[in-house]
Amino acid sequence: MALVAKDLGYTYSTGAPYESRALTGVDLRLEKGELCLVVGSTGSGKSTLLRLMSGLLEPGVGSVRVDDAESVVRGSVGIVFQNPETQFFAETVSADVAFGPKNLGFSDVDTAVSDAMLAVGLEPVEFGERSPFTLSGGEARRAAIAGVLAMRPAYLLLDEPTAGLDRRGREVVVRALLEARLKAGVLLVTHDPGVFLAHADRVLVLAAGQPVFYGNVTDLLEDDGAPFDVAGLVLPDVVRAQVLARSRGARIARFAFDATDAARTLAGALGGPS
Ligand SMILES: Nc1ncnc2c1ncn2[C@@H]1O[C@H](COP(=O)(O)OP(=O)(O)OP(=O)(O)O)[C@@H](O)[C@H]1O
Ligand SMILES: [Mg+2]
Repeated sequence: MALVAKDLGYTYSTGAPYESRALTGVDLRLEKGELCLVVGSTGSGKSTLLRLMSGLLEPGVGSVRVDDAESVVRGSVGIVFQNPETQFFAETVSADVAFGPKNLGFSDVDTAVSDAMLAVGLEPVEFGERSPFTLSGGEARRAAIAGVLAMRPAYLLLDEPTAGLDRRGREVVVRALLEARLKAGVLLVTHDPGVFLAHADRVLVLAAGQPVFYGNVTDLLEDDGAPFDVAGLVLPDVVRAQVLARSRGARIARFAFDATDAARTLAGALGGPS
């Protein structure tokens, strides 16, 4: 059981003079219980990939299959768009979060709503009756994510869910996504890989619509993280410091993703206490 893209490609406005090839030759397999990151510079095709994987766009080339079905099954793939908080429409947060599960005919809509709100750190009693338009930016983002979590999708696709959040907001979202991963496959576009690399099962690096790397984090960081360079990206500083130290001869077998662990790793490589 997996969400699978094969040789996926897409061209916007085919045949028009402004035709634009957005994606070429993407192969990807997302199992339940996995976290896959999609990284790439602006315009590299990340959002296009998510639209294709969610069934919002029909593949121009190749295919997307959910659990071996011919096309994307309704409700099985949930997508959180870039800046989802611009798309509220209901009068209260709980009505907004309830929209998806109601639409899918859930028999336990209230439970689905409160579970999803709690997962993103929004107390239903405190926030449920608020207008979504009165929420702070970070609260609104979390409410928008709750709206998709409430549908309990088997595969959850998110387009830059942590963009513009402060540290606490990021931590809440990361925790919610790691919890969602216990039951779902999570495919996540991010400009903030430092937050997610430690948890990722796989990374897809896109450059100008083409995959330049698809594999696990250890392999990504071999060869000094070359795919990041090719894609015009920079590794998070904490990781880059270790990559640089290793290229100067430091013996680093496993990379650390957090500053405290990285200091320990580097000290250990220098023969200090680790
Ligand atoms: N509706 C559209 N019509 C025509 N071209 C489009 C459309 N949407 C995207 N594109 C083009 O397709 C390419 C990929 O766009 P996409 O939105 O997938 O990039 P992205 O990696 O998500 O970028 P960002 O990091 O800025 O969100 C870009 O060149 C973009 O201009
Ligand atoms: Mg995008």
